[in-house]
Amino acid sequence: MRKKIVAGNWKMNTLPAEGVELAKGVAAGRNEVCDCVTMIVCPPFTHIHSVVESLKRSNVEVGAQDCATEVKGAYTGEVSAEMIAALGCKYVILGHSERRQYYGETSETLNKKMSRAYENGLTPIYCVGENLEEREAERHFEVCKSQIEEVVYNLTEEQFGNLVIAYEPVWAIGTGKTATAEQAEEIHAYIREVLRAKFGAAAEECPILYGGSCKPSNAAEIFSKENVDGGLIGGAALKAEDFLAICKAF
Ligand code: 13P
Repeated sequence: MRKKIVAGNWKMNTLPAEGVELAKGVAAGRNEVCDCVTMIVCPPFTHIHSVVESLKRSNVEVGAQDCATEVKGAYTGEVSAEMIAALGCKYVILGHSERRQYYGETSETLNKKMSRAYENGLTPIYCVGENLEEREAERHFEVCKSQIEEVVYNLTEEQFGNLVIAYEPVWAIGTGKTATAEQAEEIHAYIREVLRAKFGAAAEECPILYGGSCKPSNAAEIFSKENVDGGLIGGAALKAEDFLAICKAF
């Protein structure tokens, strides 16, 4: 059976003390969520340490929102995969559309980041998804396919066994406009087919999360679909109550 995962991407929100409060709120409700759900919070780099401390013994995992392409050295402003792993992160979000769009991340950059993540024992949450123009031109299948072929196809079987994919249609992120459960299932099933073409039966084990205006009111319907294994949550992850309600949607 595939892992079920709900991850909160806090993006550039919360000050350190607020982040700790939010993490504590999430931990306080952990016992109301099925043990079968892996819960992850991804705070900004600046509060990873204090959030990890506040989540000790909570069974809530911590991830980072990005990592550097390089191992270490003269790269001003960058944070390495080794640093975030040393702080206690287990996961790292890579290839989020905001990074692709605003910071020019390409498959070339992401191949390096994926390598750094695996070298340090981190599980990447690799994001794919089309923008509105691509959806309207019905190019969403080919966009997701190439985002997978150019990066995920370079993984070894062992690395692929430790990967989470998040499908996030750009037009649904922060817009309040969610993909319907049917749209999500259609493309998740397609993504799994693309994974199967390279990795065979191991594709059945790879969790594929949905992200984009996922909230307590629509999570249950989206998560009920066969190929939707959880969510990557933005706005609704900033309130412990909402994030927990989404986690309980399973
Ligand atoms: P929203 O849930 O705010 O739409 O953001 C989704 C997202 O980008 C998570 O990574």
